[in-house]
Amino acid sequence: MPPVDSKTIRIGLLGCGNVGGALIALIERNGDEIATRTGVRLEITRVAVRSLSKDRQVAVDPELLTTDGLEVVAGRDVDLVVELIGGIEPAREFITAALEAGKPVVTGNKELLANVGAELAAIAEAHGVDLLFEAAVAGGIPLVRPLRESLVGEQISRVMGIVNGTTNFILSQMTEHGTGYAEALAEAQSLGFAERDPTADVEGFDAAAKAAIIASIAFGARVVAGDVYHEGISDISGADISFADRMGYRIKLLAICESFDDGSVAVRVHPAMVPAAHPLAAVSGSFNAVFVEGDAVGDLMFYGRGAGGSPSASAVLGDVIDAAVNLRKGSHASLGTFTRRRIRSIDEVSSAFYLNLEVADEPGVLAAVAGAFGRHGVSIRSMEQDGLGDQARIVFITHEAGSPRFAPRSRS
Ligand SMILES: NC(=O)c1ccc[n+]([C@@H]2O[C@H](COP(=O)([O-])OP(=O)(O)OC[C@H]3O[C@@H](n4cnc5c(N)ncnc54)[C@H](OP(=O)(O)O)[C@@H]3O)[C@@H](O)[C@H]2O)c1
Repeated sequence: MPPVDSKTIRIGLLGCGNVGGALIALIERNGDEIATRTGVRLEITRVAVRSLSKDRQVAVDPELLTTDGLEVVAGRDVDLVVELIGGIEPAREFITAALEAGKPVVTGNKELLANVGAELAAIAEAHGVDLLFEAAVAGGIPLVRPLRESLVGEQISRVMGIVNGTTNFILSQMTEHGTGYAEALAEAQSLGFAERDPTADVEGFDAAAKAAIIASIAFGARVVAGDVYHEGISDISGADISFADRMGYRIKLLAICESFDDGSVAVRVHPAMVPAAHPLAAVSGSFNAVFVEGDAVGDLMFYGRGAGGSPSASAVLGDVIDAAVNLRKGSHASLGTFTRRRIRSIDEVSSAFYLNLEVADEPGVLAAVAGAFGRHGVSIRSMEQDGLGDQARIVFITHEAGSPRFAPRSRS
């Protein structure tokens, strides 16, 4: 793509909702400063939306609005496309058309990238243009660029983090205020941290999509959302939270991406017991944090607002400026290659486990449970017990063991 001479880079914006609207406001607010510091003036020349009659939080010149996304992408007055619609189609169609027309694309669409990111990256590479997506993972927290650029020389063995603010808010309310799950979810919904249908967040789908993108970037591996084992937080009870607390842990929904010496990778999302002294245990409310382990750099932690219109628009704007500067130079950032690596199934992952059992409160029960652990080669690290009338609740934390479904068979 030849360099663009004009100092002004004209943006075609697809979507003007939470993030798109905040991006317009941010460019209006900081545009002069950006022009001074980078030599590039950003101008939004077209905006595609679903409904022309909708009231919007940010004033948009009605002349710019259209419901035809392809018209925006093809516009002769559009140099760069920002996709903030969400979902797979028509976002994929619009992005593909833009890249094929030699126009760089900035997107925050985790669902799309976690499913067809490698294909889109290949189209971008073939046409020599940028495809940037900092906002797709952990909203306003710079993570994709540090992984892709600053840490590209590292052997990253593990990236682990809290990448969903809704579930972290719910778990924080349960931990810090003793709120029940349903009540904490309702509070998250009333504060705008959770959707009316919270399934994507509370069942771990959103975190799984982000984990797929993180693993792809951190390990140069081809990982899609369907490769990610995920479990949500809807089965976590107040009793689990308080047992964890008594044993010195906080329950967090973690996305865990690991790379192994045999070339395989494992990517999973599930509630985990985080030691109270670990930095991730202190990440509270709707905040996100991601912990990166590199061979030379050691441990790094990235922390901040993982969602919300304004923080996410900040990440989008950083990408827009990068792409705009590259466009003027006639260059683009390479996303590198995504190689196919064996994806370990959850049954191959070993870990310490937490078990919460309700049993009859009578002699011999504890010995029977302990015997079952022993027969399956699982050793117990710690145990707590509470009476429940004629029942008892016994909670165990094991030493590292295989997945429960594939626990080693009895040796006797
Ligand atoms: N919200 C966050 O905190 C956050 C954080 C990080 C990443 N993201 C990602 O950013 C993207 C946008 O999220 P959002 O929260 O801004 O979504 P949103 O508020 O629902 O906005 C979506 C926008 O897309 C427009 N739209 C929908 N279908 C369209 C179509 N077929 N053609 C043209 N326009 C269409 C909508 O038009 P109308 O306004 O007319 O309905 C709306 O303006 C998503 O991929 C999301 O995953 C969001």
